[in-house]
Amino acid sequence: MKKALTIALAAALAGGGMMAQANQQGDWILRAGATTVDPDTDSDDIVLPGQEIGIDGPITLEADVDDDTQLGIIPVYMVTDKFAVEVLAATPFEHDIAAEGKGEIQGLKLDAGSTKHLPPTVSVQWYPRGGQDGWQPYFGIGVNYTIFFDEDVDNELKETLGVLIPGVDDADLDLDDSFGLAAQAGVDIPFGEHWAVNLGVWYIDIDTEAEITAKAGGSQVAKVKFDVDIDPWVYNIGVAYKF
Ligand code: NI
Repeated sequence: MKKALTIALAAALAGGGMMAQANQQGDWILRAGATTVDPDTDSDDIVLPGQEIGIDGPITLEADVDDDTQLGIIPVYMVTDKFAVEVLAATPFEHDIAAEGKGEIQGLKLDAGSTKHLPPTVSVQWYPRGGQDGWQPYFGIGVNYTIFFDEDVDNELKETLGVLIPGVDDADLDLDDSFGLAAQAGVDIPFGEHWAVNLGVWYIDIDTEAEITAKAGGSQVAKVKFDVDIDPWVYNIGVAYKF
């Protein structure tokens, strides 16, 4: 990440004069880059089914989701010199999901599964320097729809469920799609008439309900549901081309 940033800034500075023309009404800008989704996960307690609940209560876990980087494709249309509409699109992200122990089993980490997702986000943006040459900072607010797919359960979780509930030999994971708000800031630093280095950051409210289904011989024997707030920071480092 740091290396990519250094290269990007060096390219912008080597470009010398801020030759780019001002953003103007009717311009299209296409940004592309390395887009990282870095979840700031907050999960409900997860009580796996099949536990004999003793005097101390059940053993609980919580979900943790790792980060992933994909190719971001981010078109922008300048509706006026200072206001634009932007769409954040990317190749599908894939995240590993862990279940981490709480209380007396703190420190225990179980590989729970993985999911792919697409988080299209549409934002309205304000360019305070719109209509002027040179660097273009921007701020935006928008809506996100995240589609989860190809959810997969890791063998470690399947085996754990098999110990808790004799006969369980398989499990499914399902994550509900999420609709929420997004906020962002970024900058285009021009190097040439059409090109710029782009740095952008979004905070996206992505909340999902997860469902783990334990199965024995193909039929469902137990189910557990819990809410997970994924609420990622999303970073883009790349280039922008203005048409
Ligand atoms: Ni949230």
